[in-house]
Amino acid sequence: MSTSLPQAGAAAGAEPSAAPQPGTALGADPVLRALALEKSYPPLVAGGVGLRLFKDLSLEVAAGEMVAVVGESGAGKSSLLHLLAALDRPTAGEVWCGTTNVTRLSAREAGAYRNREIGYVWQFHYLLPEFTAVENVAMPLLARGDRRAGAFSEAARWLERVGLGDRAEHRSGELSGGEQQRLSIARALITRPKLLLADEPTGDLDGATAERVFVLLQELCRSLGAQTLASVVVTHNMEFAARCDRVLRLRDGRLVAA
Ligand SMILES: Nc1ncnc2c1ncn2[C@@H]1O[C@H](COP(=O)(O)OP(=O)(O)O)[C@@H](O)[C@H]1O
Ligand SMILES: [Mg+2]
Repeated sequence: MSTSLPQAGAAAGAEPSAAPQPGTALGADPVLRALALEKSYPPLVAGGVGLRLFKDLSLEVAAGEMVAVVGESGAGKSSLLHLLAALDRPTAGEVWCGTTNVTRLSAREAGAYRNREIGYVWQFHYLLPEFTAVENVAMPLLARGDRRAGAFSEAARWLERVGLGDRAEHRSGELSGGEQQRLSIARALITRPKLLLADEPTGDLDGATAERVFVLLQELCRSLGAQTLASVVVTHNMEFAARCDRVLRLRDGRLVAA
């Protein structure tokens, strides 16, 4: 770990403790460190009441770890992932990914950070329906300027890996919900990110399809995790959450052990 990084406990003002805190990574070398995050929204109308979403929220996730985040609707789960992905900025606190202080990135740098370091799986996938499966998966490599031939052969390999090798030339809009989510998992991982963020990846799928997609996600995270991948998965499914390495509940603006 870089010695230049602040310590989570120090930033939170906590005494060092033998017992691991809920937000502490299981491994010694966290990929992700969110330190004392605060997020407030101002009132929408003058004299109204603002919203204080996070208070002193800290989280570490190590390479190889898959952390589930659960919590009631409106607790701030999606907002937390947005801060981790540099899609939004905290009011206070810092997010580190490896040795990058994500909070300090300019908008342009944040775009490059997302492309290089983050794989994001959304509940409603956000695939490009008129583009083929292989084009959708190759998109992050093309966006960062990789050559077409290399990007497409890598995308074809990823389609095989998620069980869609025979659907490469199908438009993504023609695929089923489960197949579309497999595609978005391939698109998230093709860049070999350090951090996978999944926001209710099975929330829109029926039970059996959700199970297959979750198993795929977990298998890929396990096999890639040994290299560098840390994962944060938001889910309402407590059975899936229990199969992750740690389960954290977002409550009253903080992460607590579930
Ligand atoms: N840009 C914003 N301005 C004001 N309030 C917001 C904004 N974005 C999210 N919120 C509020 O933050 C809360 C948490 O939202 P969200 O992160 O989507 O919750 P969850 O994903 O846990 O259901 C909600 O009350 C939501 O209305
Ligand atoms: Mg949400």
